Amino acid sequence: MESRPRQIETHHSLDERSLNDIISSGLSSPRPPRQLETVKSSECLEALLSPSIRSSAGTPREHHAFEPHPMIADAWEALRRSMVFFRSKPVGTIAALDPTEDSLNYNQVFVRDFVPSALAFLMNGEPEIVKNFLLKTLRLQSIEKRIDCFTLGEGVMPASFKVLHDPVRKTDTMIADFGESAIGRVAPVDSGFWWIILLRAYTKSTGDHTLADMPDCQRGMRLILTLCLADGFDTFPTLLCADGCCMVDRRMGIYGYPIEIQSLFFMALRSAKSLIKAEGDGKEFLERIDKRLHALSFHIREYFWLDHQQLNNIYRFKTEEYSHTAVNKFNVIPDSIPDWIFDFLPLKGGFFIGNVSPARMDFRWFAIGNFMAILSSLATSEQASAIMDLLEARWTELVGDMPLKVSYPAMEGHEWRIVTGCDPKNTRWSYHNAGSWPVILWMLTAACIKAGRPQIARRAIEQVETRLAKDGWPEYYDGKLGRYVGKQARKFQTWSIAGYLVAKMMLEDPSHLGMIGLEEDKKMKPSLTRSASWTA
Ligand code: GLC
Repeated sequence: MESRPRQIETHHSLDERSLNDIISSGLSSPRPPRQLETVKSSECLEALLSPSIRSSAGTPREHHAFEPHPMIADAWEALRRSMVFFRSKPVGTIAALDPTEDSLNYNQVFVRDFVPSALAFLMNGEPEIVKNFLLKTLRLQSIEKRIDCFTLGEGVMPASFKVLHDPVRKTDTMIADFGESAIGRVAPVDSGFWWIILLRAYTKSTGDHTLADMPDCQRGMRLILTLCLADGFDTFPTLLCADGCCMVDRRMGIYGYPIEIQSLFFMALRSAKSLIKAEGDGKEFLERIDKRLHALSFHIREYFWLDHQQLNNIYRFKTEEYSHTAVNKFNVIPDSIPDWIFDFLPLKGGFFIGNVSPARMDFRWFAIGNFMAILSSLATSEQASAIMDLLEARWTELVGDMPLKVSYPAMEGHEWRIVTGCDPKNTRWSYHNAGSWPVILWMLTAACIKAGRPQIARRAIEQVETRLAKDGWPEYYDGKLGRYVGKQARKFQTWSIAGYLVAKMMLEDPSHLGMIGLEEDKKMKPSLTRSASWTA
């Protein structure tokens, strides 16, 4: 049974506190939680997980009372088919294996796309492919990267790589793309962050610190972060980015300080903090990380956060305020607030908006940025709960029929023309322009478990199970409700497949969350309250 997940001894190294917190905060169990080492979700969370979920994750257990969902075996089979080998060793998974479409660059291993695959393999006790991937991409990082006559920063990690097999000479070679052949020629800012996050996930899941401790890995992490921690003209701790530098890799008006990058930056900094050794000048580097984390958490929690109260504050902003006493620090003109947000924002609930820069607040919802903010504890626990409240209150808009909208709402008409440059792939309610991406399910699930609201994820997973496999695991869906298989969506898109498996395994055994979730750092509580900051 090649395609079946292997039966494994689960060996999770989750913080004791975190799972106990999760269990006691939202998932009221009839039995008191036991020591983590011995906690099995099937015992401790029995009352909380529905029978279908309890029984259907990818790792079969011995006494199954219920049949696993048939999609799971299909998904494992498809995931294994997508594996890419370099000199006979597995090094990643291909983006999509759609036999009906021109592959374009979907025949490559994308760093961001491999993350859910890696988590699925780690959860199933197969860390080898993840280790190989981390080492191979590290080698690629050290290549000199040029676009025309310009050399990119040393630390940049590739967006993707491709393995070329020469059947005659029997050799394998690897070619990487750092943005020099990507649409728009944008370097992927997210790749390096995902690499660090994955290195931590690998270390947490296997308990093997030797990989992260290797001088090459220590150097790789430092190179990535040095790019972001360099002093410059910045007045904000957030990272200034070009459009299309992350999952949304085409022009979509996310230039500036997009929330997806800020959340990943924060999570990568926190992950690196736990992996970088304090030897030599390591201590000084760790201090720089600490300072940035402090400033970043303050900035995002204060200025990106939007709830009813805050919207009302912005609505009443005065403009042209100079000096330190300014309430409207970025000179946002209230007239620029779009109409939709007034109806969309419920009285209970909130979220981190898409972007904040001088005189510009992008009020759009971006799912990845918000879920990664929860997972990294960039969101305070109150903010995490408020994001969950928003999801419940605006289910139709944000989750729809096929989870989950990458952004909301869509841009159309004149705005679409100006902001996307008339992009025919990003028409309203399609692709990056408020299209629905099944891959985001794993992040939703992890965030829901962390926020103590797993029932929200369960509902989304049930929706996915009605169609995803039947539709051939599409990359994305179109339409206001996400009801239509996307116009140019690839079928057998690997991260749609892996994302589903990860979501299922995590609900089955929430202790997997320790790989990808970080506890709140109590020292990082903002020193100023919003009222002190905004109404000084
Ligand atoms: C699309 C997505 C990008 C993804 C790639 C491969 O370009 O926008 O995020 O990495 O496809 O699946």
